[in-house]
Amino acid sequence: MYKSIRGVKDILPEEASSWQKIEDSARNIFFIYGYGQIRTPIIEEVNLFNRSLGSSSEIVQKQMFEIKRDKETLCLRPEATAAVVRAYIENSLDKKGGFAKFYYMGPMFRAERPQKGRLRQFHHIGAEAIGSLSSYLDVEVISLANRLLCDFGVAGFTIKLNSLGCVEDKKKLSQILKTKLKKRLTDLCADCQDRFNRNIFRVLDCKNQACRGIIEDLQLSSDYLCADCNQHFLQVKNGLIALGIDYKVESQLVRGLDYYTRTVFEITHPGLGSQDALGAGGRYDNLVKELGGPDLGAIGFAFGLERLMLAREKVAQRQVSKLVYIISLGEAATEQGLRLLEELRKNNIAADTDYTGKSLKAAMRAADDLAARFVLIIGEDELKKNVVTLKDMQSAEQKEINPENLIAELKC
Ligand code: HAM
Repeated sequence: MYKSIRGVKDILPEEASSWQKIEDSARNIFFIYGYGQIRTPIIEEVNLFNRSLGSSSEIVQKQMFEIKRDKETLCLRPEATAAVVRAYIENSLDKKGGFAKFYYMGPMFRAERPQKGRLRQFHHIGAEAIGSLSSYLDVEVISLANRLLCDFGVAGFTIKLNSLGCVEDKKKLSQILKTKLKKRLTDLCADCQDRFNRNIFRVLDCKNQACRGIIEDLQLSSDYLCADCNQHFLQVKNGLIALGIDYKVESQLVRGLDYYTRTVFEITHPGLGSQDALGAGGRYDNLVKELGGPDLGAIGFAFGLERLMLAREKVAQRQVSKLVYIISLGEAATEQGLRLLEELRKNNIAADTDYTGKSLKAAMRAADDLAARFVLIIGEDELKKNVVTLKDMQSAEQKEINPENLIAELKC
């Protein structure tokens, strides 16, 4: 028997319908905020990511799925920001108005050690706004991320915010970290001792208990920011306050990808365990130029869809589901049940039934598993009286109704 490889998942119909709800809701919100869809290829040249994410980043060092063919080295995309910027430049979108807002949804690939919320094929829902340095764009992008989460039915998340500053500020920050961490170098885990030389920012993401203690003691401030970057950060914070969006400034939030400058943010959820980031993003003001385009500012973010699914509350799912589950007991009742099933579906009401001969108790359990909003029971008694029993699964109320009134009853 063949099995799927580690860290990838089949999305079966029951789960796929929840995915579709999230995707539909995202499409709707992106439209409201003026973001148009972009679909870039799943394979790209490996150098696109080496250059954009940085050769010392964790993704490039350890997590690329590379495909070598003849003289080419391709890879399965580990993220989409670099690909969107490549597409923006390649299609000369800078010459067609310059400022452009994109969204995307699709699979990404990272050769990581799989665990809860960490897969080798996972899915991003993300947005990129290219062509502006305005701090108000940062506010829009963060408010968009916030709005998406509210619409997805995710509650209890935290928006963590920081500013890395410009390239010069980043160098200063890196130097501050080097000075502070040098004293504790031998107390860091082996990985972090390596990161200290390779990419010191990555030390701050380490989950190791000993390293976390050291990181928390660092007492970083935002002194490394130049006057312009400081002003930009202030405007972002004030803009979020004006929109009533809660955030927490976290000086240890640095993100491990080379392309970030100025604003960075991460949205975490306590229900996710050790992989607690629902999504993350930030500015990448030098990337368009770095990849051969004009000198343009840009900002974006991406959510991990699988993590959104984990954080989404069951209650929210139940409220949106209007599924009617039909339970027919006996042959004659089954015929009546199938007629009503057809009738409900013709009227665009989601409906389903059991085809495996379940008892009443087992069928009720199946309805509950499907988060059905109503259960329709047809037994011998109901047939004799020419009624059906309709149970509202939310209120637990139950009543007998004439089958001819069923559609009207459910539509109101
Ligand atoms: P990232 O932080 O690498 O950022 O990924 C964004 C989100 O994808 C994470 O917060 C997490 O929810 C999810 N994710 C990442 N790796 C995995 C995995 N192995 N399994 C499951 N979920 C995962 C980026 O990729 C940037 N491109 C975001 C961005 C867009 N920055 C600017 N624009």
